[in-house]
Amino acid sequence: MSTFTQAQRAGVVRVALLGCGTVGAQVVRLLREHAEEFAARSGARLELVGIAVRDTAAERQPWVPRELLTDDAQGLVRRADVVVELIGGIEPARTLVLAALENGASVVTGNKALLAAHGPALHGAAEASGADLYYEAAVAGAVPVVYGLRESLAGDNVTAVLGIVNGTTNFILDEMATRGLGFDEALALAQELGYAEADPTADVDGHDAAAKAAILASLAFHTRVGIEDVPVTGIRDITAEDMAAAQESGYVIKLLAVARRVTDDGTRGISVRVHPALVPATHPLAAVHGAFNAVLIEAESAGRLMFYGQGAGGAPTASAVLSDLVAAAAHKIHGGNAPRESTYAQMPLLGPEATPARTQVQLRIADKPGTLAAVASVYGQHGVSIESVRQQRPADEDARIVIVSHEATEAALADTVAKLSEEPRVHEVISVTRVEGE
Ligand code: NDP
Ligand code: HSE
Repeated sequence: MSTFTQAQRAGVVRVALLGCGTVGAQVVRLLREHAEEFAARSGARLELVGIAVRDTAAERQPWVPRELLTDDAQGLVRRADVVVELIGGIEPARTLVLAALENGASVVTGNKALLAAHGPALHGAAEASGADLYYEAAVAGAVPVVYGLRESLAGDNVTAVLGIVNGTTNFILDEMATRGLGFDEALALAQELGYAEADPTADVDGHDAAAKAAILASLAFHTRVGIEDVPVTGIRDITAEDMAAAQESGYVIKLLAVARRVTDDGTRGISVRVHPALVPATHPLAAVHGAFNAVLIEAESAGRLMFYGQGAGGAPTASAVLSDLVAAAAHKIHGGNAPRESTYAQMPLLGPEATPARTQVQLRIADKPGTLAAVASVYGQHGVSIESVRQQRPADEDARIVIVSHEATEAALADTVAKLSEEPRVHEVISVTRVEGE
């Protein structure tokens, strides 16, 4: 009996596309425009056998073949060697991807929400049937950071990942920093330019970045991390005043996905979180402007690596989808598999009592003798060392001070702020912002 699959026998890989929106339509275009190159690279002709959409009657880009449109996604999945899922969200994407994998079809997806919520089930289904699960487009669009972590750094030990992985929020913060816009004004501009959705919640509240942080941390530390493991703070509360104060102190504010491995002082584990952070103006991540993404990786032997590029948009994201599709198709023809989910390290997730952090705290305080000493004493009582104190500018008859701490645990820093807010000479805790980057 022949062990060749139908694809190997025919030299054709049947591709089902689920979703033909911003990214899906560009995948169709690239598949048509570069069919010969993709055939040469993968060893098979990539035949688009159907395109599942919600509304088959809706207007489409001129290159989308209408005869391939269907609203029967389940039926389409059963006719494919590789399924490209670009619907987004959890359902019906989860059911369709699982059906494809259980059927032995490889899956290429850009769906970070699905992976961060149901990664183990999807990886398990791929492993059970011998299919591939590829998801380069799920993190940072065109930027090959999934490949970088999963394959290029398989020979190293990653110690930290710091990423600007949401273009919408980076655009908003950049407009606030460079043009002095307020948050609402910058968000309205992001919507006008098509970066932010009409409902910008997933971006501005950090959920999109948290899903990406979970994926990056899982890959970096060979440990399962789900979106529920990632504490998130978004950027809604960042004011033009915070931005100006950051700049006066030599920082810029960025929404960062931060994943660190901690192995000192008897503590072993990882911390993963998403929050706005002050980044020194000289740090490479400070130079990431507009809607661009960047991920800085620190590894024991490689040192620092920086991945930078377009994290969203139809064509850039389709580029990542096509690279996965060529790889999955080549495996269908020549054999072999994408790397399997790697979770052997099973590092515990650290809570606030073991997670290292630095903060900048802005206080409005009584401009009276002894106030600074009282504030410094609260830091000392909680074992938090102060790196710098700066009196910034007067607010009414009060003084305004900015205190940057050395590294301490998140819990000690939170307790310090709680105690400061009880101190009568501290009239207001104006802001507490993380500091990241050397
Ligand atoms: P869009 O909203 O533009 O497109 C979604 C597509 O899915 C549409 O064609 C829609 O059909 C189709 N669809 C929706 N529901 C169903 C359903 N029940 N059955 C069949 N088809 C359905 O999404 P994007 O192209 O922007 O994003 C796709 C994926 O790529 C998401 O996971 C997203 O997170 C990810 N991604 C997107 C990036 C971007 O820049 N846009 C960047 C990186 C990743 P119809 O056209 O009929 O409405
Ligand atoms: N909404 C995301 C962003 C793009 O602004 O980066 C998709 O991941």
